[in-house]
Amino acid sequence: MTPDQSLVYLNGHYQPLCDAKISVLDRGFLFGDGVYEVIPSYRGRLFYLDDHLSRLAKSLNSIRMTPPHSTTQWSEIFQPLLDPTKDQYIYLQITRGAAAKRDHSFSDDLTPTIFVMSADMAPIEHLRSGTQALTIEDTRWHLCNVKATTLLANILLRQEALDQQCAEAILIKNGLVLEGAASNIFVVKDGVILTPPQASNILPGITRKVVIELIQSQRIPFQEVAISTETLDHADEIWLTSSTREIIPVTELNSRSVSSGTIGPMWHRINTLFQEKKAHD
Ligand code: PDD
Repeated sequence: MTPDQSLVYLNGHYQPLCDAKISVLDRGFLFGDGVYEVIPSYRGRLFYLDDHLSRLAKSLNSIRMTPPHSTTQWSEIFQPLLDPTKDQYIYLQITRGAAAKRDHSFSDDLTPTIFVMSADMAPIEHLRSGTQALTIEDTRWHLCNVKATTLLANILLRQEALDQQCAEAILIKNGLVLEGAASNIFVVKDGVILTPPQASNILPGITRKVVIELIQSQRIPFQEVAISTETLDHADEIWLTSSTREIIPVTELNSRSVSSGTIGPMWHRINTLFQEKKAHD
């Protein structure tokens, strides 16, 4: 089946992707007025579904919208889109819907546009053998904890990294390391694992949460703490986490080797546990 023919869900109906249409007055199209989720599905089993849906509810509430479905209803909606033989992800987007005319302000009576599709996970083996990243000033808005579709800054920052043969841009604000353009960050220094504390300047990543659970289950020294660019520059290990890339070791930062330039032992330890969790959760 070509991607164009694959089944998607739009506003209560399943149809081939090529037939799915929305109004050009949709506020998602005009203003990026919507939120989204990316939920991994390993061989048909949705990973940390409840956490993704609870983050979705928080994102919706913070843009003054109400979650349209319960967890059971969402699971039923997702099932026909999933292939139990593959590793995929669900992409779910909810916009405020279409109004009669373009207007920044909105009324509460719009019907949200609900769109869901699945896609095969892109191969990440090449990233697991060590990647390059660069640091760059964070140009995003203040509510980075909301998983908003308004991603202009993120896509420009990621593209800047790609233009320089890097897999990710690590975002810096006021001298502090926050997260990647589409990932959270962990740093290992002298046997302690560090990650920036959850605040409105980073997304509450679900992979971040899983990794923290694994670190704590092993009683490895761990701190949620502000990380300076200096600490990043002298890190023993740097990892980036996301639902589509899992845990990626960074072996080169700003064209310089991270520590010895090889993948560190702590990454191997946590990644092994993560793979076990993926297989059995
Ligand atoms: N992005 N921070 C940002 C800015 C992100 O966009 C993402 C994920 C993360 C990691 O969150 P999680 O572990 O829940 O995937 C952190 C997704 C994958 C995306 O936009 O496609």
